[in-house]
Amino acid sequence: MLVPFREILADAHQRGYAVGAFNCLSTEHIMGAIQAAEQLRSPIILQVAEIQFPYAPLELMVPAFIEAAQRATVPVAVHLDHGLSFETCIKALRLGCNSVMFDGASLPFEENVNQTSLVVRAAKAVGADIEAELGHVGDAQCSADIENDIFTVADEAKTFIERTGVDALAIAIGNLHGKYIATPQLNITRLKEINSLCNTPLVLHGGSGTSEEDFKACAHNGVAKINVATALQIAATKAVENYLATSATPNYIDMKNVIVEATKESVSWHIRLFESDGKA
Ligand code: 13P
Repeated sequence: MLVPFREILADAHQRGYAVGAFNCLSTEHIMGAIQAAEQLRSPIILQVAEIQFPYAPLELMVPAFIEAAQRATVPVAVHLDHGLSFETCIKALRLGCNSVMFDGASLPFEENVNQTSLVVRAAKAVGADIEAELGHVGDAQCSADIENDIFTVADEAKTFIERTGVDALAIAIGNLHGKYIATPQLNITRLKEINSLCNTPLVLHGGSGTSEEDFKACAHNGVAKINVATALQIAATKAVENYLATSATPNYIDMKNVIVEATKESVSWHIRLFESDGKA
């Protein structure tokens, strides 16, 4: 069932678990993710990011997400990840996303507040919810980003939430997008500071490759949504590699099923780790 983003996040925030938000780039990803959520009775968020549109177009993915959500027996939210402009966020809302992320993290604070507020106004006008970002989550493949990463400051996060009215805030606490060169050490002390000042669900981006201990510490300290993209791509690629190497007569349909199964396995692993199993 399609359920509002803020309702899914509110339950996770109150009960101290996190909901996985999985970047789905194909029907195999969608099917595997929904099968995992239904089997483990977990809420789930399906999302696609603007930088993924060249190979997973918004106009194709969102209708598929909505159909999958409506058919599902567990709560599902349909979300735009990292919308880079007001225009992209409006397009996603028009297609039926029930939440959008506006990513103004690289803007100066005041400009981020102003642009995020505009998207909040548009989203609220159509009954949708919004996530924004404060602090910079860099790219794990780019070593410079580890140095330049800007951690979220707790009192700025509080002011940002109050001034914009966002439903969820993505924070930077040492997390990076993509495949990590080494397992990152998240700054859980900083997370606790942010959580103690902000009574709003927090979001952890760059979920792939984080240690199990850090994932749990996040879920228990105000992080109600964890984004996972790269891990699903790695799982599918490895499974296809193995299938092609071991099958005497490889065919496309079996290969698709291999991707669905690999996705289901990876999503199930994350759901258990985030403790969202049994919550739907
Ligand atoms: P990963 O690719 O590191 O899992 O990050 C996902 C993400 O944060 C998408 O917004």
